[in-house]
Amino acid sequence: MDSLEQMPKGDTMRLRKRHIGESCKLFYRADPLKIVRAEGQYMFDEKNNRYLDCINNVAHVGHCHPDVVKAGSDQLALLNTNNRFLHDNLVVCAKKLSGLMPEPLSVCFLVNSGSEANDLAMRLARAHTKNHDVITLDHAYHGHLTTLIDISPYKFNHPGGSGKPEWVHVAPCPDVYRGKFRDVDYPNQDLGKKYADEVKNICKKAREDGRSICAFIAESLQSCGGQIITPPNYFRNVYKYVREAGGVCIADEVQVGFGRVGKAWWAFQLQGDDVIPDIVTVGKPMGNGYPVAAVITTPEIARSFRNTGMEYFNTYGGNPVSCAIANAVIDVLEKEKLRDHATRVGNHLLNLARQLATKHILIGDVRGVGLFVGIELVKDRESRTPATAEAQHIITRMKEEFILISSDGPDRNVLKLKPPMVFTHEDAEHVIKILDEVLTEVEDEPPRKINTNSPERRKLEDGYMSCNEKKIRIDDQQKEIISKS
Ligand SMILES: Cc1ncc(COP(=O)(O)O)c(C=O)c1O
Repeated sequence: MDSLEQMPKGDTMRLRKRHIGESCKLFYRADPLKIVRAEGQYMFDEKNNRYLDCINNVAHVGHCHPDVVKAGSDQLALLNTNNRFLHDNLVVCAKKLSGLMPEPLSVCFLVNSGSEANDLAMRLARAHTKNHDVITLDHAYHGHLTTLIDISPYKFNHPGGSGKPEWVHVAPCPDVYRGKFRDVDYPNQDLGKKYADEVKNICKKAREDGRSICAFIAESLQSCGGQIITPPNYFRNVYKYVREAGGVCIADEVQVGFGRVGKAWWAFQLQGDDVIPDIVTVGKPMGNGYPVAAVITTPEIARSFRNTGMEYFNTYGGNPVSCAIANAVIDVLEKEKLRDHATRVGNHLLNLARQLATKHILIGDVRGVGLFVGIELVKDRESRTPATAEAQHIITRMKEEFILISSDGPDRNVLKLKPPMVFTHEDAEHVIKILDEVLTEVEDEPPRKINTNSPERRKLEDGYMSCNEKKIRIDDQQKEIISKS
């Protein structure tokens, strides 16, 4: 194959360092990957090394799916303009999206990213309720716009963040493994209801303080919180309390929507058919890598927004190319029955991961649904102390074995797997086999704590640390964690 590079990797790195804002996140900073092409569940670097992609939930129906590529390129060759003209792709897309939602979610706004979708959702909520305050979950991330940093504890409570604004109320993340109410501490109790009562208390306190709730926003399964499986009865109760307080309920399905959970199109549906948000935001997988996202709401809320008198215009939102692509993604999901596939392969992956947990004490919890899986690593199962350095080390080692995984959760100790939906049984077996080997390595000799004043610090600066007699490359994230610990 001809080279797919325009320049050697070293030059790409130099140009990036010089011209791209350094705050832009780069995976594996000490030895970044230069990916030049991708297909299905695989990505290839400039040397044609093949990596199994276990984290890219955006390349939903598989990287460069031919139907999606064709739909986009055919439309790009014909017409791409804004949606102030009538176009069939836009209305077909809106009809398809509405058809996948429960009633009365039937009015769509097409936008370009998950952040735009969540920002617009907040505008809709404010127009409808005339209130301002928002309830969000601890550790949540809802996007990179100013309004969304304000409702994202994952950002405002971390470096560079300036804390919670007055109008934002943070409810505990309904994490039954590590959160405020743990399954071990409250056996046989309805933890969904218990966590929902926290939201009820927030609504009550807000009222006492003279504040009015506009919206509750949450991912239906919290990704950044550490691949959290929302306990039953949570949203049913939360939605009731929030509505009683005069607010509306926003389900952020940007990461987990479009059938990733297998048995349902949308993760909020896992909580029961009667659990229906007022506004749903979708993005990432919708365009299989092309920027397209949407807000789906009720006719009533859409009417309130119209009644403000302000027109809505979005130059690129819902253009014929992005809608052609979104329509093709939905068609492929249906044609290739990828939801059923996600259930089958996800169950296999979960079973294998649970077997691994019987062998490796580092694994504290395995949880998931469909192709949304988390493996939480702990130093000790009793105390559940997060095994952060170990998780980061494992991610680097897996990359050396040509497998891309990553971590999430406030302690970055939850290995997350959310691969393209075309991930196979064999892929699941391969990942678990290699993870087994790497866990054995780590358990034999855990990554050591590095004294920040020691000569080993220099190795850290160079991006290496010694582990198991081998020199292991580590990236900046690990350096940060290890030097803090
Ligand atoms: C849950 C969630 N909501 C919203 C967003 C923002 O989406 P985008 O990056 O497309 O703006 C993200 C992005 O990671 C996300 O994970």
